[in-house]
Amino acid sequence: MGVSERWDAKYRNGTTPWDSGLPSAELRRVVSEQPIAPCRVLELGCGTGTNAIWLARQGFVVTAVDCSELALDQARQKAEAAGVSVDWVCADVTQLPPPDEPFPFVFDRACFHCIRRDLPTALQVTLKNVTATGTQYLVLTGNANEQRDHGPPSLSEDELRSELADLFDLEFVREFYFEDPGGVQGPLGLSCLAVRR
Ligand SMILES: C[S@@+](CC[C@H](N)C(=O)[O-])C[C@H]1O[C@@H](n2cnc3c(N)ncnc32)[C@H](O)[C@@H]1O
Repeated sequence: MGVSERWDAKYRNGTTPWDSGLPSAELRRVVSEQPIAPCRVLELGCGTGTNAIWLARQGFVVTAVDCSELALDQARQKAEAAGVSVDWVCADVTQLPPPDEPFPFVFDRACFHCIRRDLPTALQVTLKNVTATGTQYLVLTGNANEQRDHGPPSLSEDELRSELADLFDLEFVREFYFEDPGGVQGPLGLSCLAVRR
């Protein structure tokens, strides 16, 4: 089964515990704390589009990529209901062609940690192609400091640092909690803001 079929199956069955329906509190915090001003942003593995739509509402010009056409169908409907425009792209993020222009901001909630499990360096190639010096990459991953029976793929802070070290200086790596549906506290995560050298 290919990557699209695997993820489509999860969206078809509703086995999508990450899909809280709420904009990520950590994304909102980082955008306001840094601050990150509205700009062109690429979201990797956008799922049903909650965060892409939130970014578009803040004035960002959003390109959002996911390999699941079923997830993107939901995303398109939600964007239409919200009255915002997002460039939805159905593609494997490890196979993205270099864009005409690099993105100043890249956001990733729980995509990096899925891809590295099977293809350890595949996303780094994409990150190199879609960024330029100064690009900010906010990546939210599972955290190996928490052992869970059912949780996201996790990694340690040292692993995250070393996997981004070739391309990025790290502004911070910190712990945070994902939100589960209903806004309930979810798994412990790592939040990293990386800046392309
Ligand atoms: C854990 S979900 C997170 C979805 C979304 N970011 C969120 O927070 O709701 C991971 C997402 O990455 C997508 N994905 C996984 N591997 C991918 C790949 N190689 N190319 C594009 N999307 C991928 C899946 O379809 C899924 O929507």
